[in-house]
Amino acid sequence: MNTSLNKDKIIVIDFGSQVTKLIARRIRECAVFSEVLTLKDLKKKNIFQNTKGIILSGGPSTVTNNFFPKIPKEVFDLNIPILGICYGLQLIVKKFKGKVKTNIKKREFGRSILIKKKNSLLTKDFFNKKKTIVWMSHQDSVYNLPIGFSKIASTPQSSITAIENKKKKIYGVQFHPEVTHTKNGDIIFKNFIFDICKAKKNWMLVSEKKRIIGEIKEIVQKDKVICALSGGVDSSVVALLIHKAIGKNLKCIMVDTGLMRKNEFKNSYQIFRNKYKLNVKIINASKVYFKKLKNITDPEKKRKIIGSLFIKIFEKEAKLFKNVKFLAQGTLYPDIIESKSATGGKSSKIKSHHNVGGLPKKMSLKLIEPLKDFFKDEVRELGNTVGLVKTISSKHPFPGPGLAIRIVGKVTLEKVKILQEADHIFIQELIKKNLYDKIWQAYAALLPIKTVGVMGDSRTYEYICLIRAVISEDGMTADYFNLPKIFLDEISNKIINGVNGINRVVYDITSKPPSTIELE
Ligand code: XMP
Repeated sequence: MNTSLNKDKIIVIDFGSQVTKLIARRIRECAVFSEVLTLKDLKKKNIFQNTKGIILSGGPSTVTNNFFPKIPKEVFDLNIPILGICYGLQLIVKKFKGKVKTNIKKREFGRSILIKKKNSLLTKDFFNKKKTIVWMSHQDSVYNLPIGFSKIASTPQSSITAIENKKKKIYGVQFHPEVTHTKNGDIIFKNFIFDICKAKKNWMLVSEKKRIIGEIKEIVQKDKVICALSGGVDSSVVALLIHKAIGKNLKCIMVDTGLMRKNEFKNSYQIFRNKYKLNVKIINASKVYFKKLKNITDPEKKRKIIGSLFIKIFEKEAKLFKNVKFLAQGTLYPDIIESKSATGGKSSKIKSHHNVGGLPKKMSLKLIEPLKDFFKDEVRELGNTVGLVKTISSKHPFPGPGLAIRIVGKVTLEKVKILQEADHIFIQELIKKNLYDKIWQAYAALLPIKTVGVMGDSRTYEYICLIRAVISEDGMTADYFNLPKIFLDEISNKIINGVNGINRVVYDITSKPPSTIELE
């Protein structure tokens, strides 16, 4: 499925920046389709069809080395407007014979004040009284303007921060307009895609929904599709889209691992069975999960056990359905971008993530991935267009291995029950106080140590509950959410009074990095 068919699009060439995919997101927020491509992708046939603009992302390389990733010459020959961001700017400077130097004393990380030097279409309405705040992350700077370019703006540290060649429609900025810390960064994108590239607004989720359903019908025809349904946003949207396309020929399997939040499994099952009339089969596998997890403390081992058990159970069940030709998965666009390496290097493995996206291909089923062109927020919106209940479409992300990675150390049924209660109180309270939708992800976890407390004049010796609430755009980086003190006071009381087995509550105030969002 290719969302770019017959639509104006902006191509983002990825040079490996952590925030490249935010560029595509910002453009899509303007109702214009955008896709992130690697240098290798550019070799594909007709890749530039309908392309109205090209953005060169930032990245960790430096043009001051002998070897560095370059833009193929053809890209400049297309006469399509180009915007370079950070490393992208430096590539443009190098290409047109300007000068880039590394100067550690002049590096800028974080906020900088950008000062306007001249009017430009790119920065129309961007400055406030000739100044604005931008977010920087560089130690190489532009020292000489490239031939045919002029300077649009500077910061006190780097004199050439934004440049243009109006005739060739090539622009470059050292700062990152895609991150929210840059004030009005969206204006830079709007100016570029509408005033400079003249792209049309014609990318809407409602029409995407119709297109996806039509394509599924065409591909599947009278065959059957199987789908692992967890009740999370992604698999729920996949199931509803496919159900709209092929009705009863969709078979869903829900595997109860016993590691879900309180009541979550039962509630999701009821919604899909009763409200949406989906064909859902439940597999109660909690006993085998607890057995396999017994005495396991290593986080990676837990993840591996849970992942492979899921695959085993799913494979066995899938075989019981006759004439199934397709397997539906909730793979998202970021999963696809992240699995490609922009620069060819390897990224280090922090955790083995497991979700239905990890189902084996050897099942000899053909894959259907209706969400593979979409970001998480877009999937939530797509969910709304297919009538997904808000309790699911606005649900926080939940990891495949479930509560097992929120119980540090050994996982037992007793600990799961304790944690489910504490987590339920925490989440319900966030909803009640209108905080849930302001937070990207929140949960309670159980630490593997007991501490002494005093309740009703008696000594207690019970577990510590950790609560975590973070804000994030994509889960790659995160900051802790500033829960009001009064909320913290109340939640600590509510959890300790309401849950047998916990006598202390702590609030995790670390960001990612250095911590990860989950504890394991
Ligand atoms: P970390 O802990 O790596 O988490 O900062 C980033 C985001 O990914 C989620 N997560 C997972 N999701 N399977 C999933 O489907 C997994 O194994 C898994 N591990 C972490 C996590 O909840 C957060 O949203």
